[in-house]
Amino acid sequence: MTVIGTGVIGSAVVRACADSGLEVSVWNRTPERSERLAGRNVHVHEKAAAAIEASPIVLFCLLNYEVTHRVLDEAAADLSGRLVVQNASGVPDDVTPLRARVEAAGGRYLEAAILNYPDAIGTEDCFTVYGGAAEDFKELANVTEALSGKQVRLGSDPGYAKAYHVVSSAFYYAFVNGFLECSAIAESLGVPLNDFAESVPLYDPGFQNTIGVGLGLIARRDYTFEQAPLTSHLDVLNNLTGIAERAGIDQSYLGVMRERVLKAMEQGYRREHVAVLTEQFRSRRAAVHNR
Ligand SMILES: NC(=O)c1ccc[n+]([C@@H]2O[C@H](COP(=O)([O-])OP(=O)(O)OC[C@H]3O[C@@H](n4cnc5c(N)ncnc54)[C@H](OP(=O)(O)O)[C@@H]3O)[C@@H](O)[C@H]2O)c1
Repeated sequence: MTVIGTGVIGSAVVRACADSGLEVSVWNRTPERSERLAGRNVHVHEKAAAAIEASPIVLFCLLNYEVTHRVLDEAAADLSGRLVVQNASGVPDDVTPLRARVEAAGGRYLEAAILNYPDAIGTEDCFTVYGGAAEDFKELANVTEALSGKQVRLGSDPGYAKAYHVVSSAFYYAFVNGFLECSAIAESLGVPLNDFAESVPLYDPGFQNTIGVGLGLIARRDYTFEQAPLTSHLDVLNNLTGIAERAGIDQSYLGVMRERVLKAMEQGYRREHVAVLTEQFRSRRAAVHNR
């Protein structure tokens, strides 16, 4: 197999694959970053074309799609018969042009996403998702198993895998933002961050419950729910926005949530589950779509 791009992610991919016994050809624009990987099972190439043509499976771990196209332009390598796997972050619209390019050159295309930090690559904690033909995913099994404890093919449409990755990234940043704002509030209230962090896994059943209940209500568009009604959320959010302000947090998500709850209450909702806020996104999306 070949890895094109040995930045943080690409380097971790190379190490995990080489450690699992795979022979790995590599290329990177800045040679020092690929040369330091040289060793057992790792073969460093000076030219991208030589690295690509060294293997039937080629993983691209470059910054983004634009850079991937640029490297392919400059390499002008033979892609025929090769399985090209794109790992860079992007949006669904990025997928079709790259896939078309690979297929026009006689290659096959899989979309991939690594949903964890580079340190987790090669461990049970790493989760990877793929989009593309079942037989191509099967052909990649040695690699996917070297990279992650759990690997899932999301279907034959590579664009869907990218859309899934976008959703997962949006969730990740909501989590990061929540963590950062909580940390600021914890510091301002004198709650040691370690004490707070240790208790976070205990909230997991509550998170799963919110998602599980919310999914059912969103699908039915009936948000009737007697536990934790909007009226209680408003009371809590009134308290929290005051605390966030005193902690010096600008543009807190807590203020945004409060505005959304107030708007839902203006629309007549009271005892509903907080998932009713979904209707605000839906009507805004419909308005943008019909513009
Ligand atoms: N880091 C993470 O936690 C993580 C997790 C999942 C997914 N990802 C995604 O993985 C991709 C790579 O991320 P990374 O964290 O590995 O970033 P990185 O360490 O900055 O690596 C970027 C790679 O792209 C190459 N590159 C950038 N511009 C180039 C150009 N004009 N021509 C040729 N090569 C160029 C770099 O080569 P040089 O060494 O020569 O600069 C390097 O190999 C991104 O799409 C990222 O979103 C990252």
